[in-house]
Amino acid sequence: MSTDLFAHTARHARKYLDDVAARPVRAIATAPELRDALLATSPLPAAGEPAAAVIDRLASAAERGTVATQGPRFFGFVVGGSQPVAIAADWLVSTWDQNAGIFVLSPLISVVEEAAGKWIKDVAGLPESWSVGYTTGCQMANFTAIAAARHHVLAAAGWDVEARGLFGAPAIDVVVGDEAHYTIFNAMRLLGLGAERLRRIPTDGQGRMRADALASALAGGTGPCIVCAQAGNVNTGAFDPLEPIADAARARGAWLHVDGAFGYWAAAAPARRHLVAGIERADSVATDAHKWLNVPYDSGIVMTAHPQPHRRAMTTGAAYIVESPTERDPHEFVPEESRRGRAVPVYAALRAMGRDGLADLVERNCRQAARMADRLRTHPRVAILNDVVLNQVLVRVSDDDAVTNDVIARVQADGTCWLGGTTWHGVRAIRVSVSNWSTTDADIDASAKAILASLPH
Ligand SMILES: Cc1ncc(COP(=O)(O)O)c(C=O)c1O
Repeated sequence: MSTDLFAHTARHARKYLDDVAARPVRAIATAPELRDALLATSPLPAAGEPAAAVIDRLASAAERGTVATQGPRFFGFVVGGSQPVAIAADWLVSTWDQNAGIFVLSPLISVVEEAAGKWIKDVAGLPESWSVGYTTGCQMANFTAIAAARHHVLAAAGWDVEARGLFGAPAIDVVVGDEAHYTIFNAMRLLGLGAERLRRIPTDGQGRMRADALASALAGGTGPCIVCAQAGNVNTGAFDPLEPIADAARARGAWLHVDGAFGYWAAAAPARRHLVAGIERADSVATDAHKWLNVPYDSGIVMTAHPQPHRRAMTTGAAYIVESPTERDPHEFVPEESRRGRAVPVYAALRAMGRDGLADLVERNCRQAARMADRLRTHPRVAILNDVVLNQVLVRVSDDDAVTNDVIARVQADGTCWLGGTTWHGVRAIRVSVSNWSTTDADIDASAKAILASLPH
């Protein structure tokens, strides 16, 4: 019986994927319609519903209630679609239902994490000795890295932050680029470092941290210090200059963290690799697999040059938790204890693509972003605000906030593609992020056409 249920569900999944490229990208159903479909019987009835009917109910709601982020013409935020092999591997993860916390609960997941970790580090030439943890996303990867940093810089000052907290601790000089992603500030809040007491270093016209300003800010400083740089600005795709930033951080004795949520993967494409030059000199790096590696949510990765501080910041231990003396206990590298084996789809995506396939995915999306920019800038009222160095394009129409907002609304309503807006250096702009394996040049051309058709006459 359950076999039939799975075959039945697989047919729904197949249909969803077959239809996703042709349907409007935006959601069609409203929240009240979805409530009618999903919540018609509330409170929870005493009698259960047959499993296949529950699945049918969900699948039918999904046809109209999901956004086709999985499809080839979703360009909002930085959202990668999932590759088939990663979806299939994710099904296995649910089927096995392994608790990825400790080795004794799943030798398989422990070794998959190890293998995927080696390959991910290889992408950017990070040393094999670096530790790796699998988080829900880059928010938690940033959090975990900065927790390790907090441990390390305070331990160097003779302070055990895990035992004593921050009460009376030596002050940490936290220094970030002015355009750090908001999740960096969130991590600072969660870690008691304060989202506002840190020092912000000015950025240039593309949003890159100014290394000269960082060097001046750090000069002569003493005591605990954490510097956060960025590989891939969420608006422009620009990279902080990591070599001079690493020089300045090293001269100061600071922990250097790099947020490379999507930019990390530039290292995979030979023509873009120079953008992350120096990343191997960082103390920690955060990235996402659910963005540009195109695996299902939730999948972030934290890597550090300091396995012991990383472990100490994350691990408390308990009498009944059986630690392996020789093998990887995955919970030692992330805040969670019990969790799913989220490295499995990461492993599958990397293994199926190989180095060449990954390079091709990244390079193709970058070329498609440039193609989109070229198509749009043919119109006299369209300006491309950024240097398109990666997969991000910032577009402004008629040099006017209201007109630009109006174009965003019209494109979303049209449904050919989906993109969102942002405020960039004081002006409204349309954000285009090309991060999906299934996007074709024809999708770019059709979307550019739909965007240009949404311009006021
Ligand atoms: C540079 C950067 N850092 C961090 C994040 C947060 O990632 P997540 O949403 O996976 O937590 C993002 C998301 O877009 C990002 O672009």
